[in-house]
Amino acid sequence: MITALRGMKDIIDDAPKFERILRVASGVAKKYGFEFVKTPLLEETALFKRSVGESSDIVGKEMYQFIDKGGNDVCLRPEGTAGVVRAFVEKKLDKAGLAQKFFYHGAMFRYERPQKGRLRQFHQFGCESFGESSVYEDAQMILLVSEIFGELGIGFGLQINSLGCKECMPAYRQKLVAFLANQSEICDDCKRRCATNPIRVLDCKNENCQKIYENAPLMADHLCASCQNDFEKLKILLKDIGFTHNKKLVRGLDYYNKTAFEFVSSEIGAQSAIAGGGRYDTLIEQIGGKPTPAVGFAIGIERIYDLVEIEEPKRNGFVVGALEESCLHTAFELAQKLRANQKVSFINEPKSLKNLLKNADRQNAEFCAVIGENEQKSGTIWVKNLADTKEFVVAQDELIRGNK
Ligand code: HAM
Repeated sequence: MITALRGMKDIIDDAPKFERILRVASGVAKKYGFEFVKTPLLEETALFKRSVGESSDIVGKEMYQFIDKGGNDVCLRPEGTAGVVRAFVEKKLDKAGLAQKFFYHGAMFRYERPQKGRLRQFHQFGCESFGESSVYEDAQMILLVSEIFGELGIGFGLQINSLGCKECMPAYRQKLVAFLANQSEICDDCKRRCATNPIRVLDCKNENCQKIYENAPLMADHLCASCQNDFEKLKILLKDIGFTHNKKLVRGLDYYNKTAFEFVSSEIGAQSAIAGGGRYDTLIEQIGGKPTPAVGFAIGIERIYDLVEIEEPKRNGFVVGALEESCLHTAFELAQKLRANQKVSFINEPKSLKNLLKNADRQNAEFCAVIGENEQKSGTIWVKNLADTKEFVVAQDELIRGNK
């Protein structure tokens, strides 16, 4: 038997949840002025090296990267932001001088070690806002995520931090590098991070490293006046949803500056981040566009399955069938007409009444409508309402009209 690849899952049992999450998230994003965008799953590898960053685990270890038949170095997207930024710049929207907002959803690929909540192909719903430098925009993005989770009935914790800007970040970075230079006990990954993106050491999962970093200088204590002001304002804007200031929150992608945030759940095990995002004011420039401030987030759809409740679907629609071969054509045409505004499942072969009713029950239909020779002759149809078990015979025309 051929099975799905490790870390890749079919969406079958969870399909109703998947659809509901996308419906709710898209609805909320539209309310905040975001428009749908879809970008390719495959991009040039250079795009992710330049954006997510070579120091990140995502680019350093987890990319589905290969040379295509044309000799191009390509990879399956590990995240959605870089592709949306590429599309934005390629379409010259950076030169339009307007704030622009996009939402997207789709599969992302990371060659990680699969475990609960961690897949190699997973799905994100994300939003990216271009052209707004105000911290009010950061607050609105966070409120947007919290509204999506609110509508889905998901409880969460919110962690925020500021990663500083090009004024204050370099001086802090030097301080951190000086601190790290004296730490010979840190793990090999952190030694590598010291040379590439030192602040990522703060995110290390190694317990020994975390002990050492208890005394490390933190960005939050080295913000310039402008970053500090914005962060204070953000805290005021978010006071109603509740948050913690996690001074060690650095995010796993290199493009962030200023506001960084993560939504977490305590109910889903070790992989507790259900959404993450932040500001990335220099990325558009790095991808070759006009300098444009930006902020965004992505929700991990599979991570919230267990937190989403869905109602038992109510009985709905019709199952239409015939008792004899000679009535099948009439039933077929009637089913087609009923479909003008009903969900209709047509049974392609003649069946006994018992079988048709069983089938309708299994499909959770509200009505089972059956044509036998008597009904065929009189232009009627026998109908059973499976919700209240009432049975009646009605003219075929009337049934169709009744549904118009
Ligand atoms: P991220 O934190 O790497 O950010 O991913 C966002 C969310 O995707 C995570 O919080 C998690 O819920 C989910 N996720 C990540 N990896 C996996 C995995 N292997 N299996 C299942 N779920 C996963 C980004 O991707 C940024 N592009 C977010 C962003 C948008 N920042 C600005 N704009």
